[in-house]
Amino acid sequence: MDPMVFTFGEFETEVSFPDSLDSAALAASCPAGSVAVFDTTTHALFGAKAANAVVLPAGEASKGLESVQAVLRRLVESGLGRDATVIGVGGGVVSDMAAFAASVYMRGCSLVLAPTTLLAMVDASLGGKTGIDFAGYKNLVGTFYPASRVVVAASTLASLPGREYLAGLAEVVKTAAIGDAELLGILDGRRSDVMRRDPAVMADVVRRCIAVKGAIVASDLRERGRRAVLNLGHTFAHALESCTGFSTWNHGEAVAWGIKKAVEAGLALGQTDPGFAKRILSILEAYGFRLAAGVPSADLLRAMVMDKKRRNGAIRLVVPKIAGEAVVVHAEESLVSRVLSG
Ligand SMILES: NC(=O)c1ccc[n+]([C@@H]2O[C@H](COP(=O)([O-])OP(=O)(O)OC[C@H]3O[C@@H](n4cnc5c(N)ncnc54)[C@H](O)[C@@H]3O)[C@@H](O)[C@H]2O)c1
Repeated sequence: MDPMVFTFGEFETEVSFPDSLDSAALAASCPAGSVAVFDTTTHALFGAKAANAVVLPAGEASKGLESVQAVLRRLVESGLGRDATVIGVGGGVVSDMAAFAASVYMRGCSLVLAPTTLLAMVDASLGGKTGIDFAGYKNLVGTFYPASRVVVAASTLASLPGREYLAGLAEVVKTAAIGDAELLGILDGRRSDVMRRDPAVMADVVRRCIAVKGAIVASDLRERGRRAVLNLGHTFAHALESCTGFSTWNHGEAVAWGIKKAVEAGLALGQTDPGFAKRILSILEAYGFRLAAGVPSADLLRAMVMDKKRRNGAIRLVVPKIAGEAVVVHAEESLVSRVLSG
């Protein structure tokens, strides 16, 4: 599969699609020296021959300043300069940590990301957002710092736990809804291939998602406009995650439920084509996503209103229109309340 190249402001990102992931070869391709960041799981799976590895405990708890410090310290102790490369091999937690550290080391050194979760392949590794959880808030501290190379080996998905895989598929459904009608057809028509992680089908799925996200980010790196459509389902999802203490629902699962709510809001606002709404909802059901929040709607509304206050604005929702197209709307609390109780 040919590489893809995106220009994000002053940055250029090349995305390549090798059949397998070779961390040692990645390090060897960085002549000025590198530090490779893994978590315990990805180090065991893909890091056997990796030199100069920083291994973070697996999981969201690693998304803090301590992890960034560990990477920065290793860069200094290894005597590496501005021409060094930070290589992140793992899911969104590793890519956010590697990317944040690269963005601040000597005001910016090279960054290569090798995403190994579906979520990181289709979302976290592309587009330059980095985020650290701080003072109890998710992604409160961050920078914009796109990787110069993203290396996507869809074969790494084979070992991903089912729940993590499905979480990534929620972002795939989102991406198809906002930007690729043909991808919706693949999700519909090749569900069993997608579910058994057929490498050829998934390489195509991932490539399509990267094309959609890459084009959107290229038009709006710093999210001043169009990039916001990538948040389809996320306003609802953040409320559900915060009401459930970020424990019972993972992010992708919450996003799938959030997409359903965004479709319902779009229908109530007369924005979403009813036939398209039916199609999205049937795809979400067919993949077996949990679509009932099991949380009182008043609690969810309160979380959404608090979030709105923090942002000094109205409740901002992304709603789908037709296959491959979505818009950002400002919704009244009363409408959101009706959608949450529905
Ligand atoms: N920067 C961005 O644009 C962006 C976008 C979306 C999400 N994120 C961030 O990404 C994080 C979530 O990412 P995630 O879902 O990848 O979580 P994660 O990085 O915690 O990975 C999920 C789990 O899968 C394991 N894992 C990774 N690859 C594996 C493989 N190939 N086989 C077996 N196990 C594997 C990990 O060790 C971990 O236990 C969140 O912190 C979120 O804020 C960032």
